[in-house]
Amino acid sequence: MTIQHESLPQTFENAFHREPEIVSEAPGRVNLMGEHTDYNEGFVLPVAIDRTVRVAAAAAADRATVRAYSGAFDARDEWRIGAPRRTGRREWRDYVRGVVWALLDGGYVLRGVDLAIAGDVPLASGLSSSAALEVAVAGAICALSGIDIEPQRLALLCQKAENQFVGVQSGIMDQLAAASSRAGHALLIDCRSLEPQCVPLPDDIAIIVVDSKVPRRLGETPYNERREDCAAAAQALGLASLRDAAIDDVQRLPEPLERRARHVVLENQRLLEAVDALRSRDLARLGELMYESHASLRDDFEVSTPELDLLVELASRTKGVLGARLTGAGFGGCTVNLVERVALAGFEAGVVERYREQADLPATMLICTAVDGLKISRLG
Ligand code: GLA
Repeated sequence: MTIQHESLPQTFENAFHREPEIVSEAPGRVNLMGEHTDYNEGFVLPVAIDRTVRVAAAAAADRATVRAYSGAFDARDEWRIGAPRRTGRREWRDYVRGVVWALLDGGYVLRGVDLAIAGDVPLASGLSSSAALEVAVAGAICALSGIDIEPQRLALLCQKAENQFVGVQSGIMDQLAAASSRAGHALLIDCRSLEPQCVPLPDDIAIIVVDSKVPRRLGETPYNERREDCAAAAQALGLASLRDAAIDDVQRLPEPLERRARHVVLENQRLLEAVDALRSRDLARLGELMYESHASLRDDFEVSTPELDLLVELASRTKGVLGARLTGAGFGGCTVNLVERVALAGFEAGVVERYREQADLPATMLICTAVDGLKISRLG
């Protein structure tokens, strides 16, 4: 387990008996709107949150070995940099090795590194601890290898690591949010062009994440099946992706492809409307769109759980809550709630405490601050 009172540089020193040169830090994310749209070349609206993965690092003495220590698992890894292999268990080591594999595959010349990893992004909660880990590790290795890399390219390589090395077919949202976000803003991403745009967040509204405490790891869910359904739906419509599907076309599809495609088409429309609502401060409309998104994820995309539905229902009955929906892939994990700051105490009583009683699960809430993406600091 992580030693709570130890600083990350201290963890590094204990693990490697030397001092780190840099700290690389990448945030988890919550998605305000646009779920299961990224791998359909649609739109997403994530916010990078003040829960991060941090990597203290130094160039290896022998230039050719990677040594890694995970504080969360109190576990180590070590291999010759040119030959990363899968463990076959989709564990933290695979994400670190996968990032090295993807950078090498991308033609980058890397030097050996020592890495100590810590962080406070909750694991298996749908807040993208994996993407934060990938981006923080990639940032550290690039900085120490003298590689100047665009955030977008770095995000794509991290996604490749997750898709092709770890074996989870995630889209690009989480890695781009971890790499490119700006404090105080949500990140509107068109997943076709990969152009990110910063959308300012209102100060008087809190973004609250509630963890249902129904854990899930993406690699153990039907996430890849949903992706296959979407690809099959696009193919049946003769399209490269569901981004180009019209709602009238979708009705021609057999079940469950019709419902899957309907979710994607309407979710993209909702997202563009949500961005307009955010920009014009029509927060009531933004909230309604969030509830519509949740219903669509529950009924058409079928990725909700009774616990997430309960959290959203309790939120909808609580004063000062503008909107709520499941966030991330679903199948467990968290909801995202937009709440008037003046109503925060009522939110805890009306949603979190009631949920604990009714679901008998130890839900936790996090009032999020929107932070910057990847940051590298030189020490000393
Ligand atoms: C996970 C994936 C993302 C995205 C969401 C669903 O977080 O990593 O790429 O597909 O699920 O919106």
